[in-house]
Amino acid sequence: MSAITTTEQAAALATLLQARRSTRNLTLASFPPDFVADLAAAVRVVPSAFDTQPWRVVALHERNSAFWDSIEETITMRLEGDRRMRYLARADGMRHGGMTVLIFEDRARSAPRDGFSGEEAQDQAAQSIGMVQLALWLTITAHGLSTSLQHWHAIIEDRVLDFVGLPQEVFRLVSFMPVGEGAELTLSRPEAAERFAMEDGTPGT
Ligand SMILES: Cc1cc2nc3c(=O)[nH]c(=O)nc-3n(C[C@H](O)[C@H](O)[C@H](O)COP(=O)(O)O)c2cc1C
Repeated sequence: MSAITTTEQAAALATLLQARRSTRNLTLASFPPDFVADLAAAVRVVPSAFDTQPWRVVALHERNSAFWDSIEETITMRLEGDRRMRYLARADGMRHGGMTVLIFEDRARSAPRDGFSGEEAQDQAAQSIGMVQLALWLTITAHGLSTSLQHWHAIIEDRVLDFVGLPQEVFRLVSFMPVGEGAELTLSRPEAAERFAMEDGTPGT
């Protein structure tokens, strides 16, 4: 029998999916005692192609400020003008939450297998990592905390790998998620009825 036995459990998932938003301005959160364990548990049960789990997730807490100092230093060194100012302002919005979750691809685990081409294997790894990101995002949301998904690898990847001590030959920075307390967002979502339909064309709602 399924572990899901009540309509309240289905409703709770719908609430979580609705509540998840991209929050880019964070203040210091107080992290519940089971928060990190819940992140780890979410990552452990995520499905992946061939069950390879081609990711490594690292949560920064004690070193969160040091991490953001290093990011700001890198931005200052590598970007110029308006772009530098924009990234520094974004960093300032995200650094104060208290935790940053880094998501890496583990290329030792995402190599082609079972006759797949390199391109197909990469596509499968990207889909698998997308699932990890959503699982983390929903777990963060379930604890009443906020985050967003950031892709700054072109600017900071080497520094981030260095910071956490992972070798560049094997790992690739996919994204990071700054976590903290965020104001509730009331932005509307785009109407997208045509992106889901029953087989007879009705939109399913
Ligand atoms: C694959 C992916 C990449 C994204 N990359 C970024 C990013 O680099 N920076 C950012 O601020 N938001 C990023 N986002 C967030 C989207 O812009 C956001 O999810 C979308 O606008 C819908 O808003 P919502 O998350 O509040 O529902 C990304 C989202 C996804 C799924």
